[in-house]
Amino acid sequence: MTLHVCEHPIVEHKLTRLRDEDSPPALFRHLTSEITQVLIVEATADLETIPEIRRTPLADFDGARLADRIGLVPILRAGLGMVEAAQNLIPTSRVLHIGLFRDEDTLEPVYYYDKLPEPPNIDLALVLDPMLATGGSAIAAISRLKETGIERIRFIGLIAAPEGVEAMEEAHPDVDIWLASLDDHLNEVGYIVPGLGDAGDRIMDT
Ligand code: PRP
Ligand code: URA
Repeated sequence: MTLHVCEHPIVEHKLTRLRDEDSPPALFRHLTSEITQVLIVEATADLETIPEIRRTPLADFDGARLADRIGLVPILRAGLGMVEAAQNLIPTSRVLHIGLFRDEDTLEPVYYYDKLPEPPNIDLALVLDPMLATGGSAIAAISRLKETGIERIRFIGLIAAPEGVEAMEEAHPDVDIWLASLDDHLNEVGYIVPGLGDAGDRIMDT
């Protein structure tokens, strides 16, 4: 597993505003989208393309199109805040939803929804969730994707705790991770510190 933490100054700037407790939901959603776009660009930098000869108004040229059928897999709810940005960037992508929430007492993921095509109709899954805390939710979502036959999976998050990255490495060493920040630690109730609080609540204004 390779961990990529984006150190772009514009991302650092936007992440600072995202974390700020005074940033209201509309701004929070906007910043989430903007950071997601940068992370998706980085996470897809090595994808293969198929050559395509096309024509400008002046001449033929050697073009290219993405070789893979890409699936965006937001983990509900907070992952929904990352979908639009990713879909705008890759309009040919498919969106597959997985519904999971963390039990507040046990911190274990509770599965409540998916409707994944079997056999899969994508080649590469980009799992989207702003927060990787204990790692339980991402691990469960990725296990479910693998059950359906998807072999190539990448995780895109905004902020992770070292505990979550370690758990992911153990459970899914084949899944690389792209983040805007690797934070300090999890607190006693499973929140990432300094983190940004509850991502789902801040995105959905609940
Ligand atoms: C949050 C977050 C992740 C999960 C991370 O979702 O969006 O899915 O917690 O925690 P973990 O790594 O310890 O599993 P939450 O359970 O709050 O659900 P929500 O997105 O519906 O608010
Ligand atoms: N889920 C969140 O939304 N925030 C955290 O810090 C941990 C889990």
